[in-house]
Amino acid sequence: MCGIVGYIGKKQAAPVLLDGLSKLEYRGYDSAGVAVLNPAGGIDIVKAKGRLKVLSDAIDGGKKLKGTCGIGHTRWATHGEPSENNAHPHCNDEKTIVAVHNGIIENYAELKAKLIRRGYGFYSQTDTEVATKLVDYYYKKYNDPLQAISQFALRVRGSYALAVMYKDFPETVFAIRKDSPMIIGVEKGESFLASDVPAILKYTKNVYYVDNLQIAKLEIGGVKFYNLDRDEVKNELVEITWDAEAAEKGGYEHFMLKEIHEQPRVITDTFNYVYKNGEIDFSEVGLSDGILKYVKGIVIVGCGSAYHAGMVMQYVTEDLARVPVRVELASEYRYRNPVTNGELVIVISQSGETADSLAALRSAKEKGLKTLAIVNVLGSSIAREADFVFYTKAGPEISVATTKAYSAQLVAGYLLAIKLASVRGTITQDYCKTLLDELCSLPEKVAALLENKHLIQKFASETMDKKDVFFVGRGTDYAACIEGSLKLKEISYIHSEAYAAGELKHGTISLIENGTLVFGVLTQPDLIEKTVSNLVETQSRGALTAAIATEGVKLPDVGFEKVFSIPHTDVHFTTSLAAIPMQLFAYYLSVLRGNDVDKPRNLAKSVTVE
Ligand code: M6R
Repeated sequence: MCGIVGYIGKKQAAPVLLDGLSKLEYRGYDSAGVAVLNPAGGIDIVKAKGRLKVLSDAIDGGKKLKGTCGIGHTRWATHGEPSENNAHPHCNDEKTIVAVHNGIIENYAELKAKLIRRGYGFYSQTDTEVATKLVDYYYKKYNDPLQAISQFALRVRGSYALAVMYKDFPETVFAIRKDSPMIIGVEKGESFLASDVPAILKYTKNVYYVDNLQIAKLEIGGVKFYNLDRDEVKNELVEITWDAEAAEKGGYEHFMLKEIHEQPRVITDTFNYVYKNGEIDFSEVGLSDGILKYVKGIVIVGCGSAYHAGMVMQYVTEDLARVPVRVELASEYRYRNPVTNGELVIVISQSGETADSLAALRSAKEKGLKTLAIVNVLGSSIAREADFVFYTKAGPEISVATTKAYSAQLVAGYLLAIKLASVRGTITQDYCKTLLDELCSLPEKVAALLENKHLIQKFASETMDKKDVFFVGRGTDYAACIEGSLKLKEISYIHSEAYAAGELKHGTISLIENGTLVFGVLTQPDLIEKTVSNLVETQSRGALTAAIATEGVKLPDVGFEKVFSIPHTDVHFTTSLAAIPMQLFAYYLSVLRGNDVDKPRNLAKSVTVE
């Protein structure tokens, strides 16, 4: 979802901006642009539809634009079609104020009408041009760049990360954010602005996370922060602990493949985050045993894969800890009026910026409920606003299709379930130890699965022409299927559905035709026979069936086309292993079909708008 960059320093700005934008490509975009304050005192703006390369070629990799202060943007269209005209940066009529924006200005139509009444004209269909002209209006009124931005913030509704340059302030970039991510980096007198850390990691690891409704003023030599009253406020400088290589492909053809291979490490790191001296220690999370012991119930919210991780967590937590757990889509929870009873609300999110998840968190807090965030991105909005935070240790995830962050979320969920069960006395200390030992051995089992990836690759090449793929399972296997199916459809563009195996015959089985591919996930010993019966029902209607099953478990001989084995683990953790062949299957099909694996069409990595 749109990417923003900014730079002020001694280097030529345009190449730094292009470099930063290239690191944000993963967020999804359809056009791009940069604006640089030139040595003659004017502002040069260049925009292009399509890939960043088109923009880069137009300015010869940035060499054609002279100047050391600039802002840049990759746009993911919300208001107005993808086009050069609608691309950012946008400017006022005199080209003395220029801005880039991420987010949505909800009352833009009303503001536009007001500006038109005051004599403004508009050249694009975007809410960002409205935002820019609103800043222009207030700048002309108050003749103060900070006040123009604070007035803007008081007037608009919606979410935004906005960066503004004024011709009158040639060595300064101003920025403000509300519910849209924005970070600022500093290094030896240079200042950097970006939507996400990877964009500036090559230049600095010293980062400020901008607070909601905080205005930043970036100059050579440093950054100052202000509140909406324009009082200077302090912000804490944070050191990023991962390096630029973590956000590079590291020899893999795609980020997704690299991230799939990082899963053993990610599982270990997430486990070690709370596993201290042989037991689970939530002191860094901030959750006391008292809260866990007496909590009346748990509500888990998230979107997409985070929601799917929550589904697994629901099964595992109820089974181990005997606490009532409900899992809900964040986009539904935020508009519901649920009956509450002192539950702990857990928000799962890789980015920590997903608009629906953030709104769900706020709605839970308004109801007086305690909130726990399971989040990957340090300093993200959800992490900052939740009462407690469990940081998953996946490191930067670049591919739009999540793999390693999902795996880390699963592990965080298992650890929470074990901790709950342990403090509530619903499992014995021996079983607790067995579970922890089992979690410890998950990374090597994932690594073993990855070594056999060629088996999945071969099956993908044999089935690449399939039009429909179904995934069926029961219990946690059903939760695993939903994630496997999402992975497949989002990057291969093949139609896919996941079904609780017993539910197929209540309607969906009518879609099964000759040659339809149906995967059965069969890792829950008590449920295998039932699911196999459902798979046989699809075979009778012409389906080609494949199974993902625990090795050593004898499956009924019903003529599966392929059986992919996963190593044995405790029944509560099998999703972590079953996910791997499904991720690889989606990946290889996407490659075989010539798709843009890391940046699937119509999708954005971080969905910061509703
Ligand atoms: O950043 P989040 O975890 O909050 O994102 C939630 C979903 O948008 C995300 O999991 C999405 O479903 C993935 N692209 C799936 O691979």
